[in-house]
Amino acid sequence: MAAWSCSAPLAIGRGFVEAFNQLFHLRQLIKEHTVLAQQLSVSDDGDVSDISQELKSDVIDLVYRHSGIHLGDLTCQFVQTRLRRRLRAVEISSADDYIAFVDRNADEAQHLVNAFTTNETCFFRTKPLWTFLEETFFPELANRPAARMPSFWSAACSTGEEAYSLSMLSKHVFPVLPGNLRPRILATDISTEVLEKAAEGVYSGRNINRLKAVRPDVLDSCFEARDGAFEVAAEIRKPVQFARHNLMEKAPQQDAHDLVMLRNVLIYFSQDDQMKIVRNIVASMRSGGVLAIGESESLSFFDSGLDYVQPFVYRKP
Ligand SMILES: C[S@@+](CC[C@H](N)C(=O)[O-])C[C@H]1O[C@@H](n2cnc3c(N)ncnc32)[C@H](O)[C@@H]1O
Repeated sequence: MAAWSCSAPLAIGRGFVEAFNQLFHLRQLIKEHTVLAQQLSVSDDGDVSDISQELKSDVIDLVYRHSGIHLGDLTCQFVQTRLRRRLRAVEISSADDYIAFVDRNADEAQHLVNAFTTNETCFFRTKPLWTFLEETFFPELANRPAARMPSFWSAACSTGEEAYSLSMLSKHVFPVLPGNLRPRILATDISTEVLEKAAEGVYSGRNINRLKAVRPDVLDSCFEARDGAFEVAAEIRKPVQFARHNLMEKAPQQDAHDLVMLRNVLIYFSQDDQMKIVRNIVASMRSGGVLAIGESESLSFFDSGLDYVQPFVYRKP
């Protein structure tokens, strides 16, 4: 028999099958959209109304189990918007199925954590802290009699601005330590998404404008202009090592750090977990080391074992 040729009836037949398939696919899409919309109370015009309190608490539990982050005070809308994004990405239409999926899929648990973290940061954030580091603490480290390589930890580093600010400041304050020692900077975060951006070290827009306003001196000496953006210079990157770390777990190094920046992250945890995190951090610090926290954070509700130095700055005895 001759090879198949595309006769008119066959073409019509194929056209019919394709049209049927498309209709079927469309029906599936509509069905999934409807289930999702019902579960998440999303209206057809894309407006977001509140998810149920029950689903909100399930998601809050899920995020807590995988990060320790306490989302309790967040609005349903916030939870819903971020959850919707993940449901779409993994093409799961039921929130219950998604919750079960996260618990058996480490990659998706990481995506969920990435989606629920808040990563706001900037270079040299909170001027009085950087003045203290530049004028008091770094010179003290540079002048201590036994030369030892200083070690700093940016413990919730987000997209890297805090760690690179430490490196830029070190370049100015520690031009040459005995034996050419330069500070080492460990920079960690639970979000792999921000860590990728941090390691890239390329900044533009608002962050660079803010940097120009607070430290106009460093832009030329510590960055290289590239395609309308600014890339952190190799010399500034070199001392910084980025890694994933969950603050709810034991600190990666003990009795190691002269300075720990634990800024604008404690607010995301319950008081019990804040105590646990701070105790882990204190164990990672050398005696005489300094801990800096954020302006809206406090250690006054428990005995951290640290001495108060100035607002948001503490020292390990
Ligand atoms: C608001 S940013 C603060 C960044 C920077 N420290 C500052 O003050 O500008 C908070 C960061 O904490 C991180 N984070 C939240 N939970 C964490 C956890 N359990 N372990 C480590 N990092 C966490 C988030 O991913 C986010 O990048």
